[in-house]
Amino acid sequence: MKKIVVIGATGTLGQAVVTALKARHQVIEVGATRGQYRADITDVASVEKLFGEIGNVDGVVTTTGKLHFGPLTEMTADQFWVGLRDKLMGQINVVLAAQRFVNDGGSFTLTSGIVGDEPIRDGANATTVNLALEGFVRGAAIELPRGIRINLVSPTVLEESMESYGPYFRGFEPVSAAKSAMAFVRSVEGAQTGRVYRVGY
Ligand SMILES: NC(=O)c1ccc[n+]([C@@H]2O[C@H](COP(=O)([O-])OP(=O)(O)OC[C@H]3O[C@@H](n4cnc5c(N)ncnc54)[C@H](OP(=O)(O)O)[C@@H]3O)[C@@H](O)[C@H]2O)c1
Repeated sequence: MKKIVVIGATGTLGQAVVTALKARHQVIEVGATRGQYRADITDVASVEKLFGEIGNVDGVVTTTGKLHFGPLTEMTADQFWVGLRDKLMGQINVVLAAQRFVNDGGSFTLTSGIVGDEPIRDGANATTVNLALEGFVRGAAIELPRGIRINLVSPTVLEESMESYGPYFRGFEPVSAAKSAMAFVRSVEGAQTGRVYRVGY
């Protein structure tokens, strides 16, 4: 049994990841406004405080990250910073701050998304951020010490999110959050590192 912290545990994807991991592991559930523990991944001090409270873990999973969706022709730099600050630097903040709290042979699993590979209308911020996360995982995988691994899960649009995201994803076949969660389990329990697990496409 491993001790795994899931940041974003209260979300659509996070809840399914928690359910899948709980079958065999101790799972610490972290949300921004709900959940067993609270943290703000955009704030390094908040991430450090979280790990000060929960102590060492075998795995860190992040299923969170805001993006800005909107037409490029009207996009402001401030709007573009939303994805950079939240989904990109937020998840990177977690790795930078948490690495010393991860046990030997432990793992990080971050979340990107299909828009990195398949651009959609209004999605320039999402495509940029998701591919930057791939770059981070590729770079970090060769440097993390003590056998610590890092992988990225890139799901297509979730069935559970089609009501709100459907108009952006016409012609995309959605995948369930539960099926997406399997890729997180593969990352946590497997041996691979530096990988991108694409789910549903
Ligand atoms: N939904 C999809 O179709 C889909 C498809 C592919 C990829 N993704 C990616 O998967 C990730 C999760 O998406 P989702 O739809 O599950 O989102 P969601 O339902 O909105 O859940 C977001 C989760 O993150 C937490 N959170 C929000 N801001 C945070 C912060 N600053 N610090 C720490 N935790 C924070 C929320 O906590 P509270 O509940 O307390 O607010 C919640 O647990 C995102 O990166 C998204 O781009 C989603």
